[in-house]
Amino acid sequence: MDKVAVSIKGLVKTYPPDTRAISGLDLDIYQGDWTVLMGASGSGKTTLLNMISCMERPTSGTIEVLGKDLTSMSDRELTVFRRNNIGIVFQQYNLIPYLTALENVEIAQFFHSVVDKGSAQNVLTEVGLADRLGHTPTKLSGGEQQRVSIARAVINEPSIILADEPTGNLDRSNGKKVMEVLAKLHRKGQTILFVTHDTELARWGDRVITLSDGRVIADDRKVN
Ligand SMILES: Nc1ncnc2c1ncn2[C@@H]1O[C@H](COP(=O)(O)OP(=O)(O)O)[C@@H](O)[C@H]1O
Ligand SMILES: [Mg+2]
Repeated sequence: MDKVAVSIKGLVKTYPPDTRAISGLDLDIYQGDWTVLMGASGSGKTTLLNMISCMERPTSGTIEVLGKDLTSMSDRELTVFRRNNIGIVFQQYNLIPYLTALENVEIAQFFHSVVDKGSAQNVLTEVGLADRLGHTPTKLSGGEQQRVSIARAVINEPSIILADEPTGNLDRSNGKKVMEVLAKLHRKGQTILFVTHDTELARWGDRVITLSDGRVIADDRKVN
């Protein structure tokens, strides 16, 4: 049996007055898998990711990441846990505008209390940006900015990468480059949970989970 990276049991998230964003969800995500989360807008994909990344707390139910129960942790413990174990990539790149590509990656290392210039440079080289280290975000294309944000997400070697529609703002060719970077990380064993509503992009993953009204309605593993 494959090792479980994330184990979710009986998860519910409600927003006042009466939105049930996640409505009793059970799900295991396996280490080394590229799991794709699909579903219509409003089906609960972002809410689920926000709870796995410890940004929001469930209304009820439990989430274990690497065997640690997030629901029993204090806010402080959650912050430390996220920093050490979870890499997040959003649709928006969220880079710091006055820092270079290299500095944007180094700042993530700084918060992890390790600054090793070599490794930030290596990760940016991995994502194909060796010749863009000194560029600030406005001098980079959207696809390049997203690759900097992936480098920032992986610099501290997270156990899992959560990516919420990371190619949503990109044209096809830049989107493909971002997917290729994720595929390369996946080949090296990185666990990825990837949200998209694009069936073409879903094919890059090993397993596709479909949500509807905060519940799993389909769970398909790719047959190779
Ligand atoms: N902070 C919030 N406050 C109130 N309702 C929210 C909040 N975040 C999400 N929702 C609602 O929860 C449901 C699921 O939203 P979301 O997780 O963003 O879906 P998706 O990412 O699949 O489009 C939607 O009905 C949305 O309007
Ligand atoms: Mg969303």
